[in-house]
Amino acid sequence: MFLFVYSINAEITNNRYYPLYHFAPQQGWMNDPNGFSVFKNVYHLFYQYNPVSSLEPGTAHWGHATSKDLVHWKHLPIAMYPNNTYDKNGVFSGSALIEDDKMYLYYTGHINHPGETPDHEEHQALATSTDGVNVVKYENNPILYGTGRQPDIRDPKVWKHGDTYYMVLGNKFTKNNTSLGRVLLYSSKDKYNWKEVAVIGESDGFLGYMWECPDFFQLNGHFVFLWSPQGMEPQGDKYRNLYQTGYIVGDFDYKTLSFKPITEFRELDHGHDFYATQTILDNNGRRIVVAWFDMWERNYPEQLDGFTGQLTLPRILTLTKDLRLIQRPVPEIKVARTKTLCTGQAKGGTKVTLKDKAGEINIRARVTNDMELFIDGRNTSMRIYYSAFCGEISLDRGGEDGLRRTEWRPKKELMLNIYVDASSIEVFCGTGEVTMSSRYFTDGPVSVRLGDTSSVWQFKVTNMRSTVPLNGSYERQ
Ligand code: FRU
Repeated sequence: MFLFVYSINAEITNNRYYPLYHFAPQQGWMNDPNGFSVFKNVYHLFYQYNPVSSLEPGTAHWGHATSKDLVHWKHLPIAMYPNNTYDKNGVFSGSALIEDDKMYLYYTGHINHPGETPDHEEHQALATSTDGVNVVKYENNPILYGTGRQPDIRDPKVWKHGDTYYMVLGNKFTKNNTSLGRVLLYSSKDKYNWKEVAVIGESDGFLGYMWECPDFFQLNGHFVFLWSPQGMEPQGDKYRNLYQTGYIVGDFDYKTLSFKPITEFRELDHGHDFYATQTILDNNGRRIVVAWFDMWERNYPEQLDGFTGQLTLPRILTLTKDLRLIQRPVPEIKVARTKTLCTGQAKGGTKVTLKDKAGEINIRARVTNDMELFIDGRNTSMRIYYSAFCGEISLDRGGEDGLRRTEWRPKKELMLNIYVDASSIEVFCGTGEVTMSSRYFTDGPVSVRLGDTSSVWQFKVTNMRSTVPLNGSYERQ
């Protein structure tokens, strides 16, 4: 282990884009959620973190925060530094396993070899914590070398079934000179010694060249394989982001270790900024998903203000009979509501201004009519549009590649639940069968306005308050 000496000089200089009720780092850069878990009745969330600068991912650390209700967050000291030979160029993504009052954190140690081929290698490592604050790396790390599977083998997700532990890892392999993504399954009897036992799935080209952040869990009697493939080509309105996050539902047999897909690959979210998901089963038996509310290689306007990245709202996942994932924000989010600005019927042109750019909007209307809603900022306007004729919902945040659109055919009633925060919007359609999550940067004040020809049965707009501590005491703008 070596000593890590640097000064943390990133700080938030302007909070115009800092979320009120979505988790974001105190300063610096964040990407993937990691080690999402419940430990001693408290939710723990770790994340890929560069404390030094908000301008780049830098060398990944694990940032750390806790919450009692998934809404109010408390920042904790950095959990892991890249200070060992096996993780010196990044404490990459991973997950938590809680057992016997101990937290086991599995992650990827990333090492660069500049100028060599391949130019990096990745091994799996373990760290533990008994108090949920101090994290100690295992002395005999790495625990899994992935020999023959280098150089891209990362993002362990670990769980226990019966008396055996399982781990899925994202990997890249080569076939006929083509790079393809796949996910490998490992098993262990003791949490330390692992062997490769199966392939959960692999790309035939259509599903890209590398698979990241795999997750594999049981839901309503089936298995959901959820992961982030890189390298899918856009097809019409589908797969329009640089990288995707989506799932296949199938059946899995722990005896034969074979996963039999039933569905095709489906994107989990249809907005611009949704990647690298992680799920947990919480103490109430809820399967909850969070995602990095961003995408690689974007322009990140907030980074000039001293922080980059945030998380989506935690969402409960359920599975429909036709094997589609439904996402609903955790009901705990209600505690962030403050004043209801309007409720009841509303005609086209109705306009309400949010306090602090943060609010919740509920709309109910006739399915046979189109519906248009604008989120207006200073000199900007984002449009959400339901086309009854086409059976489609779209979100247009303006600018280059501003439009995202997907099929949505509600049956009885048009229902939308929309969460607007200082630099984001999350649209939940119907009971959560379609979601769209996009970052949106505007200077306030922000108003919500019904399109001129839209009229709705219910137009409820509620202000939301801050639940995520800000570093320093800045006035919200
Ligand atoms: C996904 C990812 C992971 C990796 C981490 C590095 O966004 O590329 O595969 O572990 O980010 O920060």
